[in-house]
Amino acid sequence: MGITFLEKEKVFRLDTPNTSYYMGISDDKYLGHIYYGKKLKETNIRYLLREQEAPFVPSVNGRDKLSYMDCFPMEYPTHGVGDFREDAIAVRTKGGHTALELHYKGHEIIKGKPMPEGLPATFGGEDDCETLKVYLQDEVLSLEVVLSYSVFKDADAIARDVKVINHGEEEIFLTKVYSACMDMDNKDFELLTLHGSWARERHIQRNPVGCGFQGVSSVRGESSHQHHPFVALLSKGATDDCGEVYSMHFVYSGNFSGLVYRGQFDNVRMMMGINPEDFCWKLEKEEAFQAPEVVMTYSGEGLGAMTRAHHDLYRKHLIRSPYKDCKRPILINNWEATYFDFNTEKLIAIAKEASRLGIEMLVMDDGWFGNRFDDNRALGDWFVNEEKIKGGLKYLVDEVNKLGMKFGIWFEPEMISPDSDLYRAHPDWAIAVPGREAGLCRCQYVLDLTRKEIVDYVFDRMCAVLESANVEYVKWDMNRQLADLGSMNLPADRMGELSHRYVLAVYDLQERLLQRFPNLLLENCSGGGARFDPGMLYYSPQIWCSDDTDAIERLKIQEGTALIYPLSSMGAHVSDCPNHTVGRVTPFETRGYVALAGTFGYELDVTKIPEKDRNMIPKQVAMYHKYYPLVNAGDYYRLASYQENGLRDAYMVVSKDKKEALLTYVQVMMRPNCHSVIMRLKGLDAEKKYKVYRFNIESGEEEEMMPEALYGDTLMQAGLRIENPWGDFRAMLISLREV
Ligand code: DGJ
Repeated sequence: MGITFLEKEKVFRLDTPNTSYYMGISDDKYLGHIYYGKKLKETNIRYLLREQEAPFVPSVNGRDKLSYMDCFPMEYPTHGVGDFREDAIAVRTKGGHTALELHYKGHEIIKGKPMPEGLPATFGGEDDCETLKVYLQDEVLSLEVVLSYSVFKDADAIARDVKVINHGEEEIFLTKVYSACMDMDNKDFELLTLHGSWARERHIQRNPVGCGFQGVSSVRGESSHQHHPFVALLSKGATDDCGEVYSMHFVYSGNFSGLVYRGQFDNVRMMMGINPEDFCWKLEKEEAFQAPEVVMTYSGEGLGAMTRAHHDLYRKHLIRSPYKDCKRPILINNWEATYFDFNTEKLIAIAKEASRLGIEMLVMDDGWFGNRFDDNRALGDWFVNEEKIKGGLKYLVDEVNKLGMKFGIWFEPEMISPDSDLYRAHPDWAIAVPGREAGLCRCQYVLDLTRKEIVDYVFDRMCAVLESANVEYVKWDMNRQLADLGSMNLPADRMGELSHRYVLAVYDLQERLLQRFPNLLLENCSGGGARFDPGMLYYSPQIWCSDDTDAIERLKIQEGTALIYPLSSMGAHVSDCPNHTVGRVTPFETRGYVALAGTFGYELDVTKIPEKDRNMIPKQVAMYHKYYPLVNAGDYYRLASYQENGLRDAYMVVSKDKKEALLTYVQVMMRPNCHSVIMRLKGLDAEKKYKVYRFNIESGEEEEMMPEALYGDTLMQAGLRIENPWGDFRAMLISLREV
């Protein structure tokens, strides 16, 4: 680990365990990017900084400054002074001017990692983390820009953020402020992004990088189902195991923009930050704006190493819940079991049966409050509906606790229904533009959380409910996106701050909730997985992955999610069949194996499912307990992708000490008259010998697949033979143990 500065050569070097990142200060005091890649022996690589591609250097030939600005690998490019590629920061002065030029002023190297105020971010202590702050300044505007870079002793990642301070006399408007930028030569790059929709979140897409702009973004007020705040550049043909991969992931839950710009000299600029659309932040004298963090990784060993770097970083330096390392309770959620049609009696009946089967927590989903008999009303009225919850919440929770189960509850704190007591009392609390009728979505509006009194109201109501009974888990949902942006709270010249202020308020609310209830297990959710992002992960160690609980659709969703998120964070449940979203019928056993790659729980009416399935639940529960430590803390390797091959999916989790591993194999489609599959395993110790077992869900035992133990080397190079199961949607768990 470490950050070095070569005083004479003016070169910064940032090291992670296996990578190095270099920047240099040009003679004209521009901060330039030099290198990011495999760790180097050499520190002085200033010769690579493209500043002497004369005659353009401004101090040598002022005549051609613009040509220089347009090709120098600027670490944090500014708008309006000749770098005509996409810029990272833009301003508008009181006089309407937009030019901004940043020069190096100074820097600081500090132990540990200061946390950006009010924002989620990776954290680290003085002994496992170091931070570089580079101070840049526009002399004309007296605008200071501070670039922060943190490296960790135990993770191959760099965390970056940006702070802008107005030291000038006059107000200034920040119209764009990305959190990270990196210039590189093109290596025939391909761009990998994650896309989808409701019930189809985070499907992987790969395209060659063409000239000009390409990327992903959201203006929905949240990270979204449709696009994900993540971009990766892959050297052409990179696979899971080889090739170079550069990634940027935004620790943020609102509008974002992640883009790649390929320019005239075949160089590539990669950037990530708040989406400038609808964004405009006013900075009065000495006011500062803190941009959220971006996590960057480099892998010289393909996508798999990138994945594991993200998993390690998030497990060690982002998730901070007390549940981070301890086993999460197996929950049963009543959403798909009952939708809005439930009452105390029904819930207790589900809990009784569930506890008998070994399930550890009952979660009461949407519909327990106000007049909420369907999704047309009552959001905001966070008072228990005692017509449904007869005897009150405390009675219900006590009864559930008596069964030895924990109790959890659903909220959608950010919303307000037009048909609610709250809206009747405060119609101005919804985000809307005066004189324009705001559009509905799922028959609801979004609360204007930029107003403190509204945040306080929501917080107080949530606390009142949570304090009225022994509630140990909250599912925090958000079922619509932001439109008709208008707040009674903000003057015209600050209206462009609404979307970001909204996200800050959500963070503030979640932070306050966790401070008040430090042992609360929080699960974020947004109409399925629309707010599965690193920002939310800072507050909740698990996030609902998708409303699509079909085991086969989940293979694609979980593959895309696990590309960057640890399995321990993916909300995954076994649900009933035919599946409510796609109508598919899959074996109960397969549904269990697929949910095992996540937090594991149930989403069904356990009193109504077929007896055969019900009888399998205790066996699945035992399976979860058996494999939880491995799934939670192990290294993840992808062996086969159903999204790519249309036939089968396979992945492994290998313990850090490589003594044990678990392989999940799903045969999606049976192909008649085919050879068995020979699967080359990954992540094992080539020198260790392993016994291979097939897990038998009926007996709960691991049964020998072959009598002999095999070297990891053999299993990884020659492979393991897997007989084709009979039928579609069949799955198996294969366990490997060192002998
Ligand atoms: C969307 C969530 O993803 C579901 O799990 C469920 O909680 C519904 N909202 C309730 O309205």
